[in-house]
Amino acid sequence: MPDRLNFIRDTRGEEILGEIREYFGDREPRYWIQTYGCQMNENDSQKIAGMLSLAGCTEARDRDEADIFLINTCCVREHAEVKVDALVGSFRQDKKNDPGKIVAVCGCMMQEDGAARSLLRKYPFVDLIFGTHQLHRFPELLLRVLTSRSSVVEVGDESGSVVEDLPVRSDDVLQSWLTVMYGCDNFCSYCIVPYVRGRERSRLPEDILREARSLADRGCREITLLGQNVNSYGKGLDTPCTFPELLRRVHETEGIRRIRMMTSHPKDLSDDLIRCFAELPKVCHHLHLPVQAGSDRVLREMNRHYTAAQYLALVDRLRAAVPDLSLTTDLIVGFPGETEEDFRQTLELVKAVRYDTAFSFRYSPREGTPAAKRTDQVDEAVKKDRLARLNEVLEAISAEDRQRFLDATVEVMAEGPATRDPSQWRGRTSGNQMVHFPAPEGIRPGDLLNVKIDTVKAHTLSGIVV
Ligand code: SAH
Ligand code: SF4
Ligand code: F3S
Repeated sequence: MPDRLNFIRDTRGEEILGEIREYFGDREPRYWIQTYGCQMNENDSQKIAGMLSLAGCTEARDRDEADIFLINTCCVREHAEVKVDALVGSFRQDKKNDPGKIVAVCGCMMQEDGAARSLLRKYPFVDLIFGTHQLHRFPELLLRVLTSRSSVVEVGDESGSVVEDLPVRSDDVLQSWLTVMYGCDNFCSYCIVPYVRGRERSRLPEDILREARSLADRGCREITLLGQNVNSYGKGLDTPCTFPELLRRVHETEGIRRIRMMTSHPKDLSDDLIRCFAELPKVCHHLHLPVQAGSDRVLREMNRHYTAAQYLALVDRLRAAVPDLSLTTDLIVGFPGETEEDFRQTLELVKAVRYDTAFSFRYSPREGTPAAKRTDQVDEAVKKDRLARLNEVLEAISAEDRQRFLDATVEVMAEGPATRDPSQWRGRTSGNQMVHFPAPEGIRPGDLLNVKIDTVKAHTLSGIVV
């Protein structure tokens, strides 16, 4: 069982934030956070922002006016790490100009073996480094930096704890993320996440429901339940609760109009969850169901625990229950040993499923994972070529299938004025498609409207409210 801590009671979190506030006195330091990676990291950054707000800090409008810089890192692919390295390096000059500024680096990349040490060796001006397991200890670590004025590094693997009641700050009141579980136990052979996020641990249903209620009270209308694999939610809880059972309970939350989830591993997707999509009106008809590859041999070597045929059968069951379900996915090309024939099978699978959109990646070897040790790595040029061919197929399908919206009436949750043309409002369908429409008088964010679509573009639909 994981340790269950309360930020206020057990970590003296608020008390220490009060001490930091006193340390700053009349000054109101400004912070600037750059977040890389997935929604889990975005949600963690909102918690860091929440803690900094309680410490009397405000968000900087831009980087130049900030006193505290935070970089929340991702290491899922090499590309993410290269971007982090460049950004941290760019603070050298800021620190030279004003050594009082604080540079902190946190998140998944700092949790990799030796990463913190090598970052500090390369960029000795970094003040604070902490990993994913120390998020709730950020106030204590920041106070140490402020009072000792030396670098503080804490990246131990304290995995196993679940910390409740961390403050959250977000500019988006309407839509919120709600993390239901931490970590991952799947160990897909290409993936670093289980090593940097630790073992799977679920929050208690009552804590999740309490957060859902408090979000709704603050004006939230759409919740996305987050976990690396929400379908394995509940394993290890004293009082068993499956993900569909949790979903039914969150569904009761008054004020919440829509519920989404991210991400579902195909191997654990139950018939009960399919029933939830069909029966619970607030559950959006969108499912992100990462497939990764279409060749059974590659899937086996990826340690995914399903075959292409099993995945397709699951898609059939989902679509039989929810005919308008919008499916999206993640795909990897160039996994070690992937042949042209394997890759063709990925193309075949994509053509059979017809995803609305997909995230496609070139395989990126991650040190410490089994796939990175293989000697049959695929040439970068081959990966690039396959990715381009895959994207071409994905885009063609997506463009063709989007035509189904022409003249259709869809329910849209209004979000706010469109960025480019403020005479228009934007909102999204249950299937997560972006829609623009002229705003009717008195419209408010969170309103559900019916829009008849008259124009279908690559990334947006537009139409009129009916
Ligand atoms: N837990 C989620 C995925 C988290 S990572 C899930 O399993 O669905 C998001 C995506 O990054 C993965 O689905 C995968 O497609 C991709 N990814 C992970 N490791 C990768 C690697 N080493 N190289 C390329 N893509 C990778
Ligand atoms: Fe990575 Fe697989 Fe876990 Fe997703 S399920 S985070 S791809 S190990
Ligand atoms: Fe990246 Fe960590 Fe998410 S490695 S994808 S930020 S869990």
